[in-house]
Formats: sequence, C-alpha cells, structure tokens
Amino acid sequence: MHNTSMNLPEHLAVRLRALAEQSGSSEEEVIRELVEQRLADLATTQPSEAPVPGRFVGVGVGPGPADLVTFKAVHALRRADRVVAPCTSVEAIGRAEAIVREAAPDVVVERMVFVMVVEHEVRAAALREVCERIVAYLAAGDEVAFITLGDPNLYSTVSSVVAGILARRPGTITATVPGIAAFQALAMEADVVLTDEQQSLLLLPASVAPEVIDEALADRTRTVVLYKGGGRIAAIADHLEAADRLGPAMLGELIGMPGQRVTPVADVRDRPASYLSAVISPAPEGIGPTP
Ligand SMILES: C[S@@+](CC[C@H](N)C(=O)[O-])C[C@H]1O[C@@H](n2cnc3c(N)ncnc32)[C@H](O)[C@@H]1O
Repeated sequence: MHNTSMNLPEHLAVRLRALAEQSGSSEEEVIRELVEQRLADLATTQPSEAPVPGRFVGVGVGPGPADLVTFKAVHALRRADRVVAPCTSVEAIGRAEAIVREAAPDVVVERMVFVMVVEHEVRAAALREVCERIVAYLAAGDEVAFITLGDPNLYSTVSSVVAGILARRPGTITATVPGIAAFQALAMEADVVLTDEQQSLLLLPASVAPEVIDEALADRTRTVVLYKGGGRIAAIADHLEAADRLGPAMLGELIGMPGQRVTPVADVRDRPASYLSAVISPAPEGIGPTP
C-alpha cells in the first residue's frame, strides 16, 4: 500500500485511507478506480445529442427518489438550453425541482409560478403568463425542458402547457420523456402487484363522482388507483369498505420524500393525508392458478 501525495482535506484523506485499507489497494489505485467509475457514470448521463432549437420537452422526474429519475430524463435536462419548473412562488422550491437538485445538481432550474387556487380565471392567467414566457424562449431558439413530478403524460401540467404553447406558436416541436409514476413507486413500496393474468388497471382522480368510484371498484378483476385523494381518505375508505376491498387497500403519501407514509387505508381512514397521496386497491380476483 502506498499513501498518495495528493493534498486532500483531512476528512477525505481519512476516508481514502480507510477505503485503501479495506480493499488492500494503494490510495492511488483507489483514486484511479473512482475516476474510472465517475467517467463511466458520465458516459451514461451526458447528453448524447444536441438541443433542437425551439423544441419543448416535458420531462418526468419520477415521484421523489433521485434514483428513480431515468438516464433519459437527466440527458434531456443537461441538453436543454433552459430547464423550467412549476412552483407555487418564486421563493418556493417545487417538488420536481428538489428531485432535480439531487439527481442532477449541475442543472440550473428556473421557477415559474403556477397558481393553485380554486378561481379558474386566476389559475388561467398564471398559466397564460407561463406559456408566454416559454414561447419567448422557444422563439429565441432555445430548447426548453419543463420538469414535472412522475410522468408528463399522467395528470401533469405539461399537457396544458403544451396546449398553451401550440395555441401561441403553432408548429412547435413538442416531446415528452417518461417518468416513473407515483402509483408505480407506491406498488413497489407497498409490495403490491398492479395487474396479473386477466386483471386490469384503472387510474382515477378521487374527485370523480362517487358512483364512478363505486363502479370502478365493482369489477373485482380491476385494480383501482386513486390520485388526488389526500383530503378525502375517509370517503375513499367508505367506498372501499362498501365494495369489500378495504383490507388490502394501501395509501402512499409523499412517496420518496421526507415524511413518506405507506400504510393500509384502514389504519388511517380517520385522518386527512397530503395532496401527494395515492391509493391502490388491488384487484381481489383474476390471477391465474398458483403454479
Ligand atoms: C398532478 S398529479 C401528478 C401525477 C404524476 N404526473 C404521476 O405520473 O404520478 C398529482 C397526484 O399524483 C400523485 N402523486 C404524485 N407524486 C406523489 C408522491 N410522491 N407520493 C404520493 N402521491 C403522489 C398524488 O395522487 C397527487 O395528488
């Protein structure tokens, strides 16, 4: 073993020495291995193509954990001339931006305020302003990446932003990069099979009419996923109970984020949950015979 002559801060020197001792290699060998590993990582996370001037790309960054952001998403963020993120105020880091900070800290994110109030006209005005700013960037020749939680094609602001851009700048090239959806991460955390054999899957916002939820649950070969139901857990539990599906139903709150809770709906039916909550009611029937 040989001690490196590199001038490292004490805490790194100590860790390097420990790594060398553990592996029985010299400190130089450990450093070489780490550089090789970093270069291999960069090879898989570097942009592989040039930005397309005036293209808008909706990029899904998954539900929360940085390691659920795809390589393709990181490529798209590093490639874009501008990366914009929805937020509730310019001082507030949105969830999607927080994920990007962890997954690709080198990416500079510009915040754009989306107003989440009930008044339709106030929301629409904020959305118009966002679209106009993005269109100005696109017209100037920038490729703009817009980050969103989960997947950009599932209940995402991306679709309304795309519509607003196309209304102002017809012919704009738009694209999306898929992300892991929250319900997929919940299936992982709760150890739930979403579908098998003859089963189907239905994803619904919990705000649909009550009879739509009852109808969805009535098909026992159908797994039902409810989004946006954080404030309606008690009502959701009542629907599940009436359909004899309460027991196995799982709630995932703030998946992959501080405060994550994954729990049977039955255990928390008397408590409201965060807006970032999803419920899975696994199909009770429809799997094939046990091999
Ligand atoms: C505007 S939708 C975004 C959906 C997202 N595009 C996706 O693919 O999952 C917001 C809803 O997604 C779900 N959601 C998103 N991220 C979540 C998370 N980290 N934990 C639990 N639910 C989440 C919740 O049901 C929330 O009300």
